[in-house]
Amino acid sequence: MNVYLKNFIRQTFENRGKALDLGAGGMRDVAWLKRGGWRAWGVDIKTGVDLENVYLSPDRPFDLVFSNYVLHKLRNRRNLIETARRNLKKDGWFFLHTFDRSDKNSSSALTVATVRSLLRSGFKKVSVRKFLLYDNEPGHKHWHVILEVRAQRSSENKKVRSSLSRLVSKQVKKNQRAPVPRSPS
Ligand SMILES: C[S@@+](CC[C@H](N)C(=O)[O-])C[C@H]1O[C@@H](n2cnc3c(N)ncnc32)[C@H](O)[C@@H]1O
Repeated sequence: MNVYLKNFIRQTFENRGKALDLGAGGMRDVAWLKRGGWRAWGVDIKTGVDLENVYLSPDRPFDLVFSNYVLHKLRNRRNLIETARRNLKKDGWFFLHTFDRSDKNSSSALTVATVRSLLRSGFKKVSVRKFLLYDNEPGHKHWHVILEVRAQRSSENKKVRSSLSRLVSKQVKKNQRAPVPRSPS
């Protein structure tokens, strides 16, 4: 379990709710949330959802959407941020971890500024912080420079909404052809 996500959830939510993990891998964080009484789902390329395209969950809207260590892998990063935004309730929270460009143990090209620019519209209370984290997993044992994003979905005006809808409609159609992902029981 990502302990930073765990602390964020404890600090931010008084009640349990619904959560979506984008790029959930082995579903560890999804499983932790479920044990704690959340309703949680995870999607990944392995469950048939390609996050290069905007994905709309049939279980939306969510109180929390999170994505850890996926953004830097994508070519179309805007679509992951748009996926987070479109699956959130108004005032729902987005949490993200990725690697900074200065991280010698990743090939990430992201910086605080580039990540901030991705969250320029559709979000409020955006915070992006950079910190060092020691990866103690067997076979890793090295330092990472982490970027952590916390942001809340804001309401949007009609003009922004209609131009975004046009922009993502093709992408959504692509992902709707994939099997509907479900979190493991
Ligand atoms: C480093 S793992 C992180 C897993 C999990 N989020 C965590 O924190 O443990 C990166 C995950 O991103 C997924 N992934 C990579 N490219 C993807 C894509 N285009 N669409 C969906 N998932 C993708 C991989 O399958 C993998 O599970």
